[in-house]
Amino acid sequence: TRGLPHLARAHGIDLGVAVAVNPLTHDTRYQSVVTENYTSVTAENAMKWEHVQPERSRFDWSGPDAVVDFAERNGLDVHGHTLLWHNQQPSWLAQGDWSAQELRQVLREHMEALLGRYQGRVTSWDVINEPFQDHGPRLRENLWYQVLGEDYIAEALSMAHEIDPEAELYINEFGIEGGGAKTDAMYSLVTDLLDRGVPLHGVGFQGHFVHGNVPQDLAEHMRRFSDLGLEVTVSELDVRIPQPPREQALRQQEQEYQHVVQACLEVPRCVGVSVWGVSDQHSWIPEWFPGYTAALPFDEDYEPKPALDGMTEALSRR
Ligand code: G3I
Repeated sequence: TRGLPHLARAHGIDLGVAVAVNPLTHDTRYQSVVTENYTSVTAENAMKWEHVQPERSRFDWSGPDAVVDFAERNGLDVHGHTLLWHNQQPSWLAQGDWSAQELRQVLREHMEALLGRYQGRVTSWDVINEPFQDHGPRLRENLWYQVLGEDYIAEALSMAHEIDPEAELYINEFGIEGGGAKTDAMYSLVTDLLDRGVPLHGVGFQGHFVHGNVPQDLAEHMRRFSDLGLEVTVSELDVRIPQPPREQALRQQEQEYQHVVQACLEVPRCVGVSVWGVSDQHSWIPEWFPGYTAALPFDEDYEPKPALDGMTEALSRR
């Protein structure tokens, strides 16, 4: 069989993976899994506020530089994650008592630093991450919402576009993959933004799924957004399995990964699928969902799982 990167490129889509700086720079087996199976990377944490700007106006580029340098050496694209999110904000930002004018200035400085440093090297960005409440459909009342009002989303997109007019600007969200109130709220938000001429180019469907509960109609929901002329992507795919992961569950997970990649191939302007971690050893799942495990295409020893075959099967069809 041809390698996954070749197959993905033949379909004109990206197959991406979220990477952590430490193993990416120290572990050759980790590096090999990335370079042999994927065409793009996303920094799992390294480009978030708390890491990039731990103190006001003090930027730490060690993590993001390592990710971008690794990608360039290996011919991989980089997706930027994320410019504005309620989590992993440094305390000086989260606990500041900001006026609207000050907070806009803080945001501009952060965006100019990141977008400027990686202009032309990081060509797509999650400008807005998880704007809706966990269970939707209302906007999350994060710092940005509290200080700038609900139009912080349009403001941030316009600011990013002004700073890097070539960058593809995304809103990234979870829980919108299967339809329902949160999906509809996202649809209203993006149609409103597009009607107003706000620079928005894509919507990321995160795709943190539970085994046995991957939406059958995923393609249909992505297509609604694609029909607006937006790019869509499955940006953070994983499929978590209750412990212990039995053979039959791993077989079904193969079908689930195949189904997701197939859905992307069916949707015009679906530009790719990214998995949220290199191996089950590095997945966020066991820490955040005790009792769940084995969510990714490589196991804890970097051995490929049936899920990897599932992606290959989807990409091997003409
Ligand atoms: O940085 C500290 C480190 O100093 C400390 O020694 C270590 C000890 O546990 O913790 C480190 O922090 C961890 C951090 O990732 C690393 O930056 C946290 O414990 C850990 O909980 C945190 O989790 C990340 C999570 O976002 C935070 O919200 C996950 O790795 C990351 O996969 C996850 O990613 C998010 C996406 O950005 C957005 N969509 C959902 C997705 C999953 O939550």
